[in-house]
Amino acid sequence: MLRQGSQLQPFLNIGGIARTLVRSAVKGSNQSRWLKRQQTDLYVKRAQKDNYRCRSAYKLIELNDKFHFLQPGKVVIDCGASPGSWTQVAVDRVLSQKSGYQHGAVISVDLQDIEDIDGATIFSRCDFTSTSTQKRILTVLPSSGADVIMSDMAPNASGNHTVNHEAILGLCESALDFSKSVLKPCGIFLCKLWDGYGTKDFINTLEKNFHQVRKCKPQASRRESAEIYLYAENFKK
Ligand SMILES: C[S@@+](CC[C@H](N)C(=O)[O-])C[C@H]1O[C@@H](n2cnc3c(N)ncnc32)[C@H](O)[C@@H]1O
Repeated sequence: MLRQGSQLQPFLNIGGIARTLVRSAVKGSNQSRWLKRQQTDLYVKRAQKDNYRCRSAYKLIELNDKFHFLQPGKVVIDCGASPGSWTQVAVDRVLSQKSGYQHGAVISVDLQDIEDIDGATIFSRCDFTSTSTQKRILTVLPSSGADVIMSDMAPNASGNHTVNHEAILGLCESALDFSKSVLKPCGIFLCKLWDGYGTKDFINTLEKNFHQVRKCKPQASRRESAEIYLYAENFKK
């Protein structure tokens, strides 16, 4: 520990400034890489054209084209919904006016703001893992329960893969615990995970609760990302 007034003190300050400069240079280069990727990404362009709030919409569309779980009249809970592209897709599929279904519902929750989406019940700035948020969801959920619970929740990523993996696994476990109490028999659970050492155990847990579990990597999910989706169907209530 250096005493105040030590001759080395000024060098420490310079070191601090240098660290700050390096940090902002790294942040700046990350930002420009992100910007460049956004400008060339085909899914970003498609999302702008199709009026989706972000490119994630196509991951859900792909998964739904494969498994057909978003059907008119279904009750869907969308966890980690901001900015709202999954909710847009869900509303479009389950609240189809054309088919005259009136019993469908989409309930969307996020820590951040979600701008209104016609037909969806939105809980902005709510931590899904908290009991108070889950109680609020129950106040709007039909008494028969939910048909589909999907989680695209993701924590703020750190530079450490294991830390990120454990954090997202915690969010998936919270969504699964809630599902066990509100999902209808034969219901569907879908969650995003950053693949890692705990994936296999989590799949085993899902297999105890659902008749079939599939691990998927939609094409819209960036190849370099550790992101995978687990789709579990036919809940053993
Ligand atoms: C990849 S984004 C979701 C994108 C969204 N599916 C869409 O299509 O617009 C992940 C979201 O998870 C949310 N999230 C993370 N932890 C959460 C928590 N504990 N409760 C609610 N939302 C959470 C984040 O705020 C973030 O908006």
